[in-house]
Amino acid sequence: MIILNAKQSDLDEILEIEEESFSEPWSKSGMEFEIDSDDTYVPIVRDKGEMFGYLVLHCFVDEAELFRVAVRKKYRNMKIATKLLISAQKFAQRNGIEKIFLEVRQSNINAIKLYTSGGFEKLGVRKNYYENPKEDAIIMVCNTGRGEGK
Ligand SMILES: CC(C)(COP(=O)(O)OP(=O)(O)OC[C@H]1O[C@@H](n2cnc3c(N)ncnc32)[C@H](O)[C@@H]1OP(=O)(O)O)[C@@H](O)C(=O)NCCC(=O)NCCS
Repeated sequence: MIILNAKQSDLDEILEIEEESFSEPWSKSGMEFEIDSDDTYVPIVRDKGEMFGYLVLHCFVDEAELFRVAVRKKYRNMKIATKLLISAQKFAQRNGIEKIFLEVRQSNINAIKLYTSGGFEKLGVRKNYYENPKEDAIIMVCNTGRGEGK
């Protein structure tokens, strides 16, 4: 199992996982934009040619937002997202990013477990942030420990 930087040729597989993972999947152009952007880190996990999962971390000077992390359904609960999250945290640290923020549906217990195990803490709540279905978002943040050589 290896972690690689996403390329445009990975787009179709990313969108397949996106479709099976989210009630409001991103458009092809939105994902294309993030893969091309110099401000975005998009690691993917592959094994024997198959993509297992991906993550989208968008950087804003010394902060970043974790926009997406998703794993193909049949490979969930095998620590693939944990690997992607650690990779994103190391990337942030190397690039002078002090904090990573994210929003997560309050019912998304698996994702909240993933983030909590990865050192994220609850910062607040955005009421009715999500549609389809309407739901509050939990805002979480992680200090990357920049410069501590994680
Ligand atoms: C959330 C998601 C990315 C987790 O991916 P994953 O590869 O299965 O996660 P991991 O195997 O690394 O597990 C991370 C943690 O979540 C828990 N977890 C993950 N899936 C679980 C499941 N089906 N049942 C119970 N716990 C689960 C693990 O126990 C682990 O916690 P721990 O470290 O305390 O043991 C995956 O479920 C997914 O793609 N969901 C749909 C998309 C989504 O909701 N993304 C997040 C919002 S942007």
